[in-house]
This record gives sequence, structure tokens and C-alpha cells, in this order.
Amino acid sequence: MQIVSTIEELSQTDAQGAGGGEVLVPTMGAMHPGHADLIRLARERAGASGKVVVSIFVNPSQFNESTDFEHYPRDLDADCDFCQRLGVDIVFAPPPDVVYPPDEEVPVGELPAVATEPGLEDAYRPGHFAGVCRVVRRLFLLIKPEAAVFGEKDWQQLRVVGAMTDAEGLGVEIVPCPTAREPDGLAMSSRNRLLNTEARAAAAAIPQALEAANACPTAVAAQVAMLGVLARAGIEAEYAAIRDAETLDEVQPDAPCRALIAARVGGVRLIDNGPWAAALLAGD
Ligand code: PAF
Repeated sequence: MQIVSTIEELSQTDAQGAGGGEVLVPTMGAMHPGHADLIRLARERAGASGKVVVSIFVNPSQFNESTDFEHYPRDLDADCDFCQRLGVDIVFAPPPDVVYPPDEEVPVGELPAVATEPGLEDAYRPGHFAGVCRVVRRLFLLIKPEAAVFGEKDWQQLRVVGAMTDAEGLGVEIVPCPTAREPDGLAMSSRNRLLNTEARAAAAAIPQALEAANACPTAVAAQVAMLGVLARAGIEAEYAAIRDAETLDEVQPDAPCRALIAARVGGVRLIDNGPWAAALLAGD
């Protein structure tokens, strides 16, 4: 496995695809078993001859709070060991001035509509997706992968990156990876390690709320049910919403829907989502 941090080093690897089947897994490090799923899927997609490239970069432009950025878990050595064990070919772990060179404008581009759907991430993390799009576009341009794997846990991010890639004709296939979960259902996340014991126990209410939503025949009832489960666990929800799975706009008859939650648990912001099937059954 090669570990590189500059554009020059990157260009000396086989990472910059020319139809060679390179598959990128963009990460902010702090690897957990959910990342292992992303990497395994990338390996599968790359096949025997393609390369799996993992980028590790805690992107400052997508954080709203400087304390959140500062406290984001970082352990590059452990992350590289993790990648090595999973058969990654190249780790690209650039410093900030390689991603955002001081003398070069890294464009933001036009934000896809799905990034600013009212009541979801943009309402609580304004500018977050502009930062995500900026870094993902930059990584795509530097690495030129054939495909890139993104987790379904960040459902809105998955839709935003897909919409940006289509709109800008970036020519990268976006491969979604199902969410890895702890035995009690909590979605795996680098932020989970910031939870204290009490908050960790309470956080299990988030997947329970998604499950409760699926027992409800209408979107409104599902939203009430989710908020109820969260409140009973002492969790303050930022949003608990049922939306069109693709556009994240209001639900449409006969179109797949998604239940989405963002909540603060013991001061740690967690997000999760799942398919919401009740609408299809009830024609909500
Ligand atoms: O999902 C993440 O870890 C980040 O948002 C990403 C895609 C690596 C961009 O910084």
C-alpha cells in the first residue's frame, strides 16, 4: 500500500485513472467497521485489476463549528493500518494546503437543489454541503476515479454528490453502500466514539425511531412517532422527517420515501435514515 500526501506523489502512483478502474473511498478518517464496508465494496467494484484509493482528509470547509472540527477524531497511523489490512492500494492523506492551495481558487460550483431542501441539513448546518461538494469535486479532479463509494448513512450527502456529479458531468459513478450498524441498531459513525456511556445508551433510540416510523400509515404520523421515541429517550431532534428518497422534497405518491433523523445526543450530533415503506402501502 502506498501512502501519499502531495499531488506530485499522487501522480507517481497508479491512482489517477485513465479508464483503469480506480475506485475512490473519500473519508475523513477515524475508521470504523462502516468504513470497512465502503472499502470492501470499492474492492469489489474495482475488480482484480483496478486500484482502491482511500482519501483521508478532515475537510474544514464542511464544518460549521470550529470546535466540532477541532474535536473531530484523528489518528492517521491507525487509519493507515486499517486500510492496509483491508487491501487498499493507495491512501491519499493530503494536508489542507494541498486540497486548498493558498494561491489557487478551489471553486464551490452550483449547489444542487437537494442540498438546500428546507428542514434538513442545510437548516442546521448552512454551508455544509457547499464544503462537501467543494472537497469531493477537488478529490475527483485530482484522483480521476472511475467510481466513488459513499455511505447511505449520509443519505442527503449521497444525493447531493450524485446530483453534483450528474449536473457537472464529472464522469464518476457514485456507488452507494448500505449503513453498517451496531448490534443495538445504532448506525456506525466516527462520532459515536465521542458519546459517553449514558449518551451511547440513549442513541439506540434513533434506529428505534426509524423503525417506529415504518409502523405508521402516513408521513405525518411517522414524524410524530419518531419525535415521540426520541423524546422518551431524552433526545432533542433537529429534524425527523419523511421525504422523497431522491429529491428529499415532500413525499410523492408511489415514489420511494426515506425517513431521516438528525439529533443531538449528549452534545454529539448524530444522523441516520432508513427506507420508509409505509407510504407505498398506504398511498400516503
Ligand atoms: O462523509 C464524509 O466522510 C465526508 O463528508 C466526505 C465525503 C469524505 C467529504 O469530506
